[in-house]
Amino acid sequence: MTEPFTLAIFGASGDLTRRKLIPAVYSLFREGLLPDNFSVIGFARSEKTDESFRAELAEGVKAFARGGTFDDATWAKFAPRISYIQSNYDDADGYGRLREQLTTGDEIASRLFYLAVPPNVIPTVIDQLRFAGLPRQGKNGSPWARIIIEKPFGTDLETAQALNTELTGGFAENQVFRIDHYLGKETVQNLLVLRFANSIFEPIWNKKYIDHVQIAVTEQIGVEGRGAYYEQAGALRDIVQNHIMHLLCLVAMEAPVSLDANAVRDEKVKVLRSLKPIPEECIESGVVRAQYAAGTSGDKDRPAYRDEEGVVADSCTETFVAFKAFIDNWRWSGVPFYIRTGKCMPTRITEISIHFKPVPQVLFNTPDLGPMRPNVLAIRIQPNEGISLRFQVKVPGPALEVEPFQMEFGYGAAFGKEPPDAYERLLLDAALGDATLFTRGDEVEAAWRFVAPIVACCDACSLYPMPTYPAGSWGPQEADDLIEADGRRWEILRRPKLT
Ligand code: BG6
Repeated sequence: MTEPFTLAIFGASGDLTRRKLIPAVYSLFREGLLPDNFSVIGFARSEKTDESFRAELAEGVKAFARGGTFDDATWAKFAPRISYIQSNYDDADGYGRLREQLTTGDEIASRLFYLAVPPNVIPTVIDQLRFAGLPRQGKNGSPWARIIIEKPFGTDLETAQALNTELTGGFAENQVFRIDHYLGKETVQNLLVLRFANSIFEPIWNKKYIDHVQIAVTEQIGVEGRGAYYEQAGALRDIVQNHIMHLLCLVAMEAPVSLDANAVRDEKVKVLRSLKPIPEECIESGVVRAQYAAGTSGDKDRPAYRDEEGVVADSCTETFVAFKAFIDNWRWSGVPFYIRTGKCMPTRITEISIHFKPVPQVLFNTPDLGPMRPNVLAIRIQPNEGISLRFQVKVPGPALEVEPFQMEFGYGAAFGKEPPDAYERLLLDAALGDATLFTRGDEVEAAWRFVAPIVACCDACSLYPMPTYPAGSWGPQEADDLIEADGRRWEILRRPKLT
């Protein structure tokens, strides 16, 4: 159980609050994981009363709380804890009112600030919080102050560094929680358990036994009304710089000395610092980016990206990207990590697959019986969460026939319950002061150091071809060419839904 605290959400009138944050907080409340005197203050520019804000959030909880868990009695206990402050972000008066609401007697309550505001507003909010004396916290055991920052964290290395400077001008690093909801996913956390709570994987988790690794984050949806945001982001800033870099780190890192937040993040930073920079001249040939053209994905007709609302007609923002990365260290040197992500693809899948080296071309892997497909360990992050292992078996019968078989572990079938939403876990951890699942300042900068040159090169659109792929397809031919040139192919293991 956390100590009593107040969650103050800046940008509270936005979609994130209604769809994700409050449904997550409500679920935590319902499960008795929040302290008695816990409250939420929404802070935003739109005009609202406490009542109208609560009514809006009730609709959000009904629609989005995990497992449709809304019930009137719980909501009646939860709603009075919510209040709303209407203010401009640069208006000191609003922060004065916030301070007042947080204060009882001489003491300011423990407070968790959640910045769900556009990136250009973040410095203003931090400055105003500082002027209002709100980041200050007492000594051991007295009320604390923490701040959660939503992605995107900067748009390149320089802006990320500037944001870090801004943040640490007001808050100490251990008060700062840079959130990436991927780290709150159970299956992402399970990566560490899989690797370091089992003795069978670690000895073979290296270049001697692993041929290559694939990381795929494919989405069926398009930009869904977020065209204006996506134009500034693209797949590289929206998914690669954050979600994919975390997956890559967790799959490639060395065992940390403990589960302490800094021990885990130290190892992640080492992976990022070992990534071999992709030289500018190779980006053109080695990084495939593309935009979706009109087509059908998920039974839905989709317009071309350039025809989406908020997108300019000659946009050079990528909705798909594929490339290979190398980690220059003793464990991974020479092992390619093939990465691809895209919107409007046939299905929504996030999967990491470890492709082991093929067996020698003798015995069962001869021209008569083979070629045999190598072993694959696929970690399905979502949906249909689980792990599959592909290995060869003899087909029963008198003939010597060898076939690949897939062994399956499914979270649903194993535990019989839906995993908690990522935001539930992350909000709770921030309230407990555990930063393990949040990105440290140097980590975000190290990720940018690798991704920024690719982004910069891709931003120079006119110099660089932009293939298209029909919505509902697996991306452009160029992406297949990228991996096939190395004698490999993209692969996603089909897995049955185990419930
Ligand atoms: C967000 C991106 O961070 O992640 C979205 O901004 C994307 O564009 C989303 O759709 C994907 O999250 P999830 O949890 O559905 O994989």
